[in-house]
Amino acid sequence: MNTAMNAPLLTVRGLTRRVGARHLFDIPELVFPRATAVALTGVNGAGKSTLLRMIAGLEPAPGATVAWTNGDGKPQEAPLTPLPAPLRQRVAYMHQHPYLFRTSVRDNIAYGLRARGVPHEEIARRVGAALGWAGIVHVQDTAPEMLSGGEIQRVALARAKVLEPDLLLLDEPTSNLDGHAREQVIALIGELAAEGRSVVMVCHDRELINLPGVVRWKLGEGRLDTRHR
Ligand SMILES: Nc1ncnc2c1ncn2[C@@H]1O[C@H](COP(=O)(O)OP(=O)(O)O)[C@@H](O)[C@H]1O
Ligand SMILES: [Mg+2]
Repeated sequence: MNTAMNAPLLTVRGLTRRVGARHLFDIPELVFPRATAVALTGVNGAGKSTLLRMIAGLEPAPGATVAWTNGDGKPQEAPLTPLPAPLRQRVAYMHQHPYLFRTSVRDNIAYGLRARGVPHEEIARRVGAALGWAGIVHVQDTAPEMLSGGEIQRVALARAKVLEPDLLLLDEPTSNLDGHAREQVIALIGELAAEGRSVVMVCHDRELINLPGVVRWKLGEGRLDTRHR
């Protein structure tokens, strides 16, 4: 293996968030390992969603930096805000309540690839594969407002996976689901991890936390414990 593959996926430094006068969290260094699934836990209001959104480049992270390795093995470091262009291609974020455009399921999944200028035939091929992967071929032409909660969550996962990200940030992917819908989403997340992607999920679902190989991070009292058992 070359050095680029041995280096962590990302290292974020100086990740600090204040809410008014209060320090929500202060994380001097956070290493995102390759091909690892992480369950991020912590009480309500601890800052889990905020942390995910800062890493995804959706909230400003003043003073924070991010280090990564380019495809050619060259180490890079830059401010986390705005998220450096090469990382925007490699990081996908899924909101706790995914928002779908009011077009079709197929269109929602194709959106990110179109935004990247991917050729039409390749979009069709990759979207078809993502629909099959998520088990949502039968709703591909359905208007999103007609979908069940479980289907929405699977569309959102397919929309993230189709971008082939190295890092998926999932905010409470199963918290609104039960029964078979929840089991389907757990199985898909297990597959994403098994494919060698890194997954960081805010999660209280014991079954997800207990999937083989899942590492636990706990956010509380302003600190992130990355060796939580
Ligand atoms: N834009 C904001 N303005 C003010 N307070 C916020 C904002 N976003 C989050 N907070 C506060 O930051 C804290 C952490 O929120 P959040 O990241 O949603 O926590 P968690 O996901 O762990 O429940 C909460 O106290 C919340 O009220
Ligand atoms: Mg939250």
